[in-house]
Amino acid sequence: MASLLKNFGKFWRTNIKKFGVYEKVLPHYTTPSRTVPEHIERPDYIVKQNPYAPKTPEVKNDVQIAGMKESCAVASSILNKLHPYIKPGATTDDIDELVHNFSIEADAYPSPLHYKGFPKSVCTSVNNVAVHGIPDLRPLLSGDIINVDITVYYKGYHGDCSKTFLVGDVDDRGLQLVNVTEECLDQAIKLCGPDVPFCEIGFRIYQHAKTNGLSVLPAFVGHGIGSYFHGPPEIHHTLNRYPGLMKPGMTFTIEPVLSHGSVHTVMLDDGWTIITEDGSRTAQVEHTVLITENGAEILTK
Ligand code: MF3
Ligand code: CO
Ligand code: CO
Repeated sequence: MASLLKNFGKFWRTNIKKFGVYEKVLPHYTTPSRTVPEHIERPDYIVKQNPYAPKTPEVKNDVQIAGMKESCAVASSILNKLHPYIKPGATTDDIDELVHNFSIEADAYPSPLHYKGFPKSVCTSVNNVAVHGIPDLRPLLSGDIINVDITVYYKGYHGDCSKTFLVGDVDDRGLQLVNVTEECLDQAIKLCGPDVPFCEIGFRIYQHAKTNGLSVLPAFVGHGIGSYFHGPPEIHHTLNRYPGLMKPGMTFTIEPVLSHGSVHTVMLDDGWTIITEDGSRTAQVEHTVLITENGAEILTK
């Protein structure tokens, strides 16, 4: 026992030195899925077997662009309202309830709910959970970092955005991780515009992460979005050879996930929660953008 403790102590100190000070998150008890009133329009994957997605990146017309602007404004306004509620003691299930109710108040359907079987209305990914965390009854602790990823379906279009929030006092390593991840997204958006290769996004993000001693998780890509939740193009966030050029009228997400440690991840038995293999923390931020004649517009500001 004594030697076990000694080894554990050694591991713990090493871990702190490498990755900072935080609690590793484990699966926790959750609550049943929430319900959506009948009058709210559902996305097609709720009501039919083969949901629509285009085969190639879609160039949207003015009507479709106006629809995207509305759905993205709903998604970002919900995300921007959450800040005061994200504090020690609140559970991720409380955040699910807020996002669910804010969506319904806005006449929007919370897109994650029953998407490919996902049981909740939002994804909440804490510390070593990289993506797709399922809201549960674990209370947030001071020192946690938590990504809240909101997608809504409003008047026929999805809008998708996420942000990593700081809970109470977060250590310097955690702050740096979140800041650099935000810088990566900002820089990627700034390079977007007509005839820019999609793969440039990954080159830029990889470079900025590397300069700051962080790694980019290659498994998670941004995506085209519209009347469908996920479609072409794939937006890779690290070095890649994905073909194609951006064109005015395209809408897609950019959503890099960065870590202090390994780029490798493991899926938990719930079939959704993705954690880092080495327990290192990750941060993610996401915007939906529109390619315009002279650059890109952030639709989820
Ligand atoms: N919002 C996520 C994304 O950025 C997708 C979540 S799928 C879910 O693409 F089913 F987990 F909600
Ligand atoms: Co998202
Ligand atoms: Co997305």
